[in-house]
Amino acid sequence: MSPNRRRPLVGGNWKMHFVRDDAQRFCETFLAGGALPADVVLFPSFPLLATVAAALEGSEVGLGGQDIHPDEKGAHTGDVSGLQLVDSGCTWVLCGHSERRQDHDESDDLVRQKAVAALRYGLTPLICVGETQAERQAGRTFEVLERQLRAALTAGPATFTLAYEPIWAIGTGETATPEIAQEAHAFLRGLLVEMLDENAAEAKRILYGGSVNPQNAAELISKPDLDGFLVGGASLDPEKFLAIIRSCGSDS
Ligand code: PGA
Repeated sequence: MSPNRRRPLVGGNWKMHFVRDDAQRFCETFLAGGALPADVVLFPSFPLLATVAAALEGSEVGLGGQDIHPDEKGAHTGDVSGLQLVDSGCTWVLCGHSERRQDHDESDDLVRQKAVAALRYGLTPLICVGETQAERQAGRTFEVLERQLRAALTAGPATFTLAYEPIWAIGTGETATPEIAQEAHAFLRGLLVEMLDENAAEAKRILYGGSVNPQNAAELISKPDLDGFLVGGASLDPEKFLAIIRSCGSDS
């Protein structure tokens, strides 16, 4: 509600896209975009981290991993640790993205362990929560969000950022209406007030993710509890990504 907005944050989740040349070209075009009205973090896949870290050096754009294993090292084929992420230049990491929850059977408790591990290395976890289409249709959206959030935060990380990503809107071109998104964000902020305190909850940035594009971003960000975006598909095009970020400055 307050006109005194939290500074917006926009994440670009590249998922399993791009090779090093694409990443390099993206960064060159993106960084030529000049000053931006939001904090920005890129989440490339692991093989691109070194390239993107080098390309972003000296800029204010942050770098994050798309996943983290709870352990520092060990026999975990295909996994990546917080130590390795920090060593690659990351300061952020996604925890509990729905594609990890679904494709890799990540439980709510594993998401909590990952967020706790992130903090051990000074990484800020960007914890993702969101309901499926079936859960929304069954009227279970709030129940699912509450379960995911409480599981992630109970005995969990003290520092974190939250993303609401309704699964039915991810990569589908079907965006939540600003009203639907605001309702979920306000619900999540209400839970944060209960779980943290009023001031801490007010200070938290809650990002929206799910088919955000330059056409729908301005209306979404005009809602009082939306503090930025986690962008998938549109973050692969530097001009589209810049347009989304710029829309975060238009009403604040
Ligand atoms: P999308 O992905 O923007 O392609 O829907 C969002 C996300 O999964 O973070």
